Amino acid sequence: MSDSEINHARSDRFSSTGFILAAVGSSVGLGNMWKFPYITGLYGGAAFVLLFIFCILLIGLPILLAELTIGRSGRGSASLSMARLGGSKAWGGVGLLPVTASFLIMAFYSVVAGWTLHYAMLSFSGVLTNGANYEELFAAFVGSWVPICWEFIVTLVTAMIIVRGVSAGIERFNKLLIPALVLLLIVLAIRSMTLEGAGEGLSFFFRPDFSKLTTESALVALGQAFFSLSLGMGTMMTYGAYVDKRQSLGTATLAIGLGNLLYALLAGLIIFPAIFVFGIAPTEGAGLVFVALPAAFAAMPFGSLIGGTFFLLLALAAITSAVSALEVPSAFVMDAFGWSRSTSVLFIAILSFLVGVPCSLSLNQEAEWLIIGGQSLFNGVDFVVTNVLLPLSGLIVTIFAGYIWKGARAEAGLHPGWLRLWLFMLRIVSPVLVLLVLLYYTGVLKL
Ligand code: PFF
Repeated sequence: MSDSEINHARSDRFSSTGFILAAVGSSVGLGNMWKFPYITGLYGGAAFVLLFIFCILLIGLPILLAELTIGRSGRGSASLSMARLGGSKAWGGVGLLPVTASFLIMAFYSVVAGWTLHYAMLSFSGVLTNGANYEELFAAFVGSWVPICWEFIVTLVTAMIIVRGVSAGIERFNKLLIPALVLLLIVLAIRSMTLEGAGEGLSFFFRPDFSKLTTESALVALGQAFFSLSLGMGTMMTYGAYVDKRQSLGTATLAIGLGNLLYALLAGLIIFPAIFVFGIAPTEGAGLVFVALPAAFAAMPFGSLIGGTFFLLLALAAITSAVSALEVPSAFVMDAFGWSRSTSVLFIAILSFLVGVPCSLSLNQEAEWLIIGGQSLFNGVDFVVTNVLLPLSGLIVTIFAGYIWKGARAEAGLHPGWLRLWLFMLRIVSPVLVLLVLLYYTGVLKL
């Protein structure tokens, strides 16, 4: 295919700010506000936060820039772009790894996005702030069939946004949401930090105690950096394909990376003071946000309204991420089978919904057939996809953009100093760190 054909393969483009907002919209979501606080609680508090920031800066940002350059140059789905630029179908096969990862993430992500919609309704109707036992409420809800109805709604809404196309659907949606969310988070963080007794939570979040780290902490921090930046799943490659040539990808990378970190830190500033004030264990797990925040909202004036708005905005942020997760396999099907956008999206949405159903049901304590090796299917899929598939596919990106495809340097458009730094990180630092973490976790490497 000639260059001009490649450049016209994606005629529907983002505007410059629209692209940054859409990419921040993809990266900001449940990963920041649901996952980051609960894994920080489980895997080492402030020491884990440091590991996470380290992974974002040294591994995440170089790979993010690499994915954007691959997408913009290849102008196709993750798999197609890699096949075009790598000059062989084999690279297209490798590109299937991120496509699979984003599909599986969509399956369980839409379940959690559904929880937040349900909690928004509970909060607006006043049920959530009437002092119920929030742990019991959450356990009874996630184990029931109700989340499946919400999962269906989330998948449907996500699919409808994508069917409208990139600039009409995704861009407009993100432009409103991302700024609205940050404003509400700042207000909530101030409220939470000024609660009486907030200090204990703040020191859990900011004062590192390295003895709290577990053997899995580094792996989980690495996986979270990938999950949170939407890396290793083809999202940023797929979005890169819709970016104009004049856009500075270096600036975009910094904006996306730092923007993403900001949302995670704000979420921590809201959650950790609240859990210590209300006597909730930081090791609560996946229910942490859904147990801690209702208690905090119940203690606030206009708590139902504020809580409802928070959960609604969180659900919308989750949908902007789900949009990008569903776009990846849909774009792949469009390119691979030549199907129309609507047919491809419908096909993938139905499949992803069906895979999400057993994930959701596996959280019922009695569904023993969905517990594998002591883990619910839900946690198992999340753990393997996030902590193994994403870093592995990130590793492939470092090799592809660092060693195989020579056009990365020109496409990145960086000043010489930044280019040298980026290439050093991409070719040496990021892959070596990812390998070390994977080898350490699998027990091949011992400290
Ligand atoms: N980065 C998103 C978040 O942190 O919530 C999650 C996500 C986005 C996952 C896009 C998968 C994906 F394709």
